[in-house]
Amino acid sequence: MNSPPPLLLLGLSLLLFLSLPTPSLAAERCNPNDKKVLLKIKKSFGNPYLLASWVSSSDCCDWYQVECDRTTNRIISLTIFAGNLSGQIPAAVGDLPYLQTLVFRKLSNLTGTIPSAIAKLTHLTLVELSWTNLTGPVPAFFAQLKNLTFLDLSFNDLSGSIPPELGQLTNLDAIHLDRNKLTGKIPEWIFTGDVPDIYLSHNQLTGPIPKSFGYYNYTTLDFSRNMLSGDLSFLFGSNKTVQIVDFSRNKLEFKLSNVVFPASLTSLDLNHNKIFGSLPEELTTLNFQYLNVSYNRLCGKIPTGGKLQSFAATSYFHNKCLCGAPLPAC
Ligand SMILES: *[C@@H]1O[C@H](CO)[C@@H](O)[C@H](O)[C@H]1NC(C)=O
Ligand SMILES: *[C@@H]1O[C@H](CO)[C@@H](O)[C@H](O)[C@H]1NC(C)=O
Ligand SMILES: *[C@@H]1O[C@H](CO)[C@@H](O)[C@H](O)[C@H]1NC(C)=O
Ligand SMILES: *[C@@H]1O[C@H](CO)[C@@H](O)[C@H](O)[C@H]1NC(C)=O
Ligand SMILES: *[C@@H]1O[C@H](CO)[C@@H](O)[C@H](O)[C@H]1NC(C)=O
Ligand SMILES: *[C@@H]1O[C@H](CO)[C@@H](O)[C@H](O)[C@H]1NC(C)=O
Ligand SMILES: *[C@@H]1O[C@H](CO)[C@@H](O)[C@H](O)[C@H]1NC(C)=O
Repeated sequence: MNSPPPLLLLGLSLLLFLSLPTPSLAAERCNPNDKKVLLKIKKSFGNPYLLASWVSSSDCCDWYQVECDRTTNRIISLTIFAGNLSGQIPAAVGDLPYLQTLVFRKLSNLTGTIPSAIAKLTHLTLVELSWTNLTGPVPAFFAQLKNLTFLDLSFNDLSGSIPPELGQLTNLDAIHLDRNKLTGKIPEWIFTGDVPDIYLSHNQLTGPIPKSFGYYNYTTLDFSRNMLSGDLSFLFGSNKTVQIVDFSRNKLEFKLSNVVFPASLTSLDLNHNKIFGSLPEELTTLNFQYLNVSYNRLCGKIPTGGKLQSFAATSYFHNKCLCGAPLPAC
């Protein structure tokens, strides 16, 4: 049997390959600058398996973890989530000028600080850098990203205080700075305007809650597990719209008796503070799903009615002299 020599076959197929149009190149949508930047990012992480689809021979609009705009074909989203990625967020991220979404999430080997190059990305609307080992401060430069609607820096090792500049971000729907190592006071006039959901829990924040929080409407305020002190009653009032309030495990010290809770309130957790006085009668008119005032210095009879007797005794226990169902009779 005479088979063609292998070298000839190779030559023939090479010829065939070269004479064909190369469809991947012809149809490439990817912007060459974006591609160059992404490959630089990949390299800076040591070409990890997680970014294996990022190869120069293919269209970057087809790569995993990124998304191109349908008309401009520029990279608008970089979402790196749950994988084995080691190193720091490279400054090259700032060279994807049309980025709207930037996510680094659940990457325990992501370290270093949040690079200032991100400040160049003025189109950003969503930033989520969470569940990583990022350190350093919460950068004030986020205030320059006026179109941000969602900023999540939770579950990291960020330290220092909350930069007052973040108060300039008035388009935020939610801010998550919880589960870090933030210290200092909460700045006055921050997250006002219209920032409905604020999560600052599990930090080491001190001082009083700024009075400015009393002038606005919020949906969720989770400031639990800090060292906040003083009064909270100005957050409430009959014409407020707040729904979920968690200030548990702080050092709040104020009289609860005269606080007027809004009808919107569905969840109130104030456990482990130094709150005194008695439970206001009108708590019985609220449609609570959750209430916990345990470990305070409250006194007097738990008002009867509404949802108040539907909670376990642990919602009320460890107070100075609270009594009546579900606690023992007065
Ligand atoms: C983090 O890095 C260490 C050391 O290289 C490695 O052993 C570990 O598997 C990595 N973990 C993750 C989740 O990437
Ligand atoms: C993560 O990557 C490092 C280095 O590439 C490797 O040593 C380690 O085994 C990997 N860990 C996991 C959980 O895959
Ligand atoms: C940060 O890294 C340490 C080890 O260096 C690890 O134990 C921890 O789980 C990491 N944190 C997160 C949030 O992954
Ligand atoms: C910010 O958002 C507005 C309204 O959606 C839009 O018109 C504007 O172009 C955006 N600015 C940037 C820098 O993306
Ligand atoms: C809060 O909401 C209530 C009820 O919708 C409204 O009457 C009040 O003006 C709002 N306050 C602010 C500061 O927006
Ligand atoms: C309702 O809210 C407005 C604006 O925040 C305030 O001026 C007014 O006194 C409040 N009214 C009542 C009944 O609390
Ligand atoms: C209320 O909070 C205390 C303290 O954290 C806890 O022990 C108790 O189980 C909570 N009660 C309910 C009903 O969640």
